[in-house]
Amino acid sequence: MDLIKNKSLLSCLCEPSDSSINVTNPATGEVLGCIPSQSEQQVFEALDQAQAAQKSWAKTTAKERSAMLRRWFNLMIENQDDLARIMTLEQGKPLAEARGEVAYGASFIDWFAEEAKRTYGNTIPSHTEDRRLMTIKQPVGVAAAITPWNFPIAMITRKAAPALAAGCCFIGKPAAQTPLSAYAVVELAWQAGIPREVIQLVVNPSARIIGDAFCNSDIVRKLSFTGSTQIGRMLTAQCAHTVKRVSMELGGNAPFVVFDDADIDAAVKGAIVSKFRNAGQTCVCANRFYVHDAVYDQFVDRFVSAVSQLKTGNGLEEGITIGPMIDQASKTNIQSLVEQAVSQGARVVAGEQQREGLFVEPVVLVDVDHSMDIVQEEIFGPIAPVIRFSSDDELITMANDTIYGLAAYFYSRDINRIWKVAEALEYGMVGINEGLVSTELAPFGGVKQSGFGREGAKEGIDEYLEIKYLCFGGLDND
Ligand code: SIN
Repeated sequence: MDLIKNKSLLSCLCEPSDSSINVTNPATGEVLGCIPSQSEQQVFEALDQAQAAQKSWAKTTAKERSAMLRRWFNLMIENQDDLARIMTLEQGKPLAEARGEVAYGASFIDWFAEEAKRTYGNTIPSHTEDRRLMTIKQPVGVAAAITPWNFPIAMITRKAAPALAAGCCFIGKPAAQTPLSAYAVVELAWQAGIPREVIQLVVNPSARIIGDAFCNSDIVRKLSFTGSTQIGRMLTAQCAHTVKRVSMELGGNAPFVVFDDADIDAAVKGAIVSKFRNAGQTCVCANRFYVHDAVYDQFVDRFVSAVSQLKTGNGLEEGITIGPMIDQASKTNIQSLVEQAVSQGARVVAGEQQREGLFVEPVVLVDVDHSMDIVQEEIFGPIAPVIRFSSDDELITMANDTIYGLAAYFYSRDINRIWKVAEALEYGMVGINEGLVSTELAPFGGVKQSGFGREGAKEGIDEYLEIKYLCFGGLDND
């Protein structure tokens, strides 16, 4: 950790002990340091502290909260290089991508610093002469969040910033593989003047201990989760007992479609961004490519040539574009999906080289059939299966043939087709002639078993607000 200038960002580190968690660099296997693990009792204590702080935090003015969030944003930008290095070391993504994620993560704080001041209610035309009706918005109360290892900063700030802006105390559980980035960002929130009880983190190698404490607690009035559909189902069911507000950003199986009228070079560029961001370890990553028969060979040739330019290795090294997988289980799963596809008739046309450690070379698979497991499952790695199609109706059926509905992408220049396909795709987000749609300005979220609720945008703060209806009666109107 000598590469970090601002040592305060690593104040979470502790001496190794029975109750500490080792944080490992997935590119080298080296242990970067230890952080304390919280027991169930300590999680309850943290929740009590959040509850005790909730009233006074909700009472601060929107302008005061906005100013603190703005200071937090500024500190993140000032520490962008250090935060990016910490992220690359523990998560593996290339340094340039990590810098991009710090800016992306900070953008949610910037955005919600402004939105804090715009939580307007309504006045409602009354149905009787002696009454006046209106609504106000109030914080839901203590908000908890469980976040994944693939975007260790942006997934924390995308939840914490709207919660704090709305007047909710926030308690987060970052992934045990990547807690250092999250702690570094929260350290900056404290330095920005946000009280320690108002934003807290808790970690335990057993995600279940914290998940159970959050879901079963009456203190937590809102749970926001980003992760797999399998875990999301369990958390949603668990939260039913205390009837919490819940938002779920779950798995995806994004189709990336190239129609016969597409700009092929633009489609290849979009495909590289969409598929290989974070080495394919992204919920919104293109998971399966459908290319029209008439342009299939042309697209595959250019795509393979672009893929051959990607460089796999340690994200701290110059020019690396594909970092390691997060762990061996993930690499093994990806490899077995490829082997299975090949045994079912698919052909590898890029990425035959086997790599040591947790690295996986980007692979392009052709002669893929829509029914193969690699098309039906979320790959979460740098593998691109390419399927042929010949009619728009067939394409729409295949694209929607999944339990997921997070993101979809398509390339076409025909305005009629664009509207028809955009409206027919059963997804929360659709990129049209665009392979990367994420921004703090637009609502991020899915439909079907990809979850519910929206993050970012003007909708994001509503997830942390209750609407209260006020009816003023008995008014003398004479
Ligand atoms: C995710 O993969 O969970 C988030 C990706 C994004 O925000 O673009």
